[in-house]
Amino acid sequence: MRIVISNDHAATFLKDEMLTYLKEKNLNVTDLGSKGEKSADYPEYALAAAKGIVAGEYDFGILFCGTGAGMCMAANKVKGIRAVMCSEPYTARLAREHNNAQILCIGARVVGSELAKMIIDTFLSSEFEGGRHATRVNQFMTYEN
Ligand code: RB5
Repeated sequence: MRIVISNDHAATFLKDEMLTYLKEKNLNVTDLGSKGEKSADYPEYALAAAKGIVAGEYDFGILFCGTGAGMCMAANKVKGIRAVMCSEPYTARLAREHNNAQILCIGARVVGSELAKMIIDTFLSSEFEGGRHATRVNQFMTYEN
C-alpha cells in the first residue's frame, strides 16, 4: 500500500505525528507536505498529492489542513479523485466501503491525534464493496465529463 500525505502550515504538527505513526507501522509513506509553520497555500499541497494518485503513483492520500475542508475541496477538483473529510471513524469506513474514496482529509484544529489515528486506521483497513456502490460511484464520476 503506497500512501501519500500532505499538509499546509496549520497542520504540520499533526502531519508529523501521523507520519511517524504510519512509518512505525512499516507503511510506505511519501510526505509531500509543507514543513514548519510558514504560511503555505493548501491547494498546491492538495494538488500534488491528488495528481500522484491519479497518475497511479500512490494508492491512498491523507491530507491535513486546519479544518480538512480546504484540502478536501481542492483535492476533489482533480479529475478522478474522491476525497472525504472525516472527524470520526464511521464516515472513514463508509467512505471506503461505499464511495471508494482514495483521499482522507483531516482537520488538525478539529481532530486530536489519537482520534486521527483511529480515523486513519479505519480508512486504510476498509475496502470498497463494489456492486450497487460501484454503480453509484460511476454515476457521479461521470459528472466530470
Ligand atoms: C489556514 O489558516 C486554513 O485556512 C487552512 O488550514 C484550512 O483550514 C483551509 O481549509
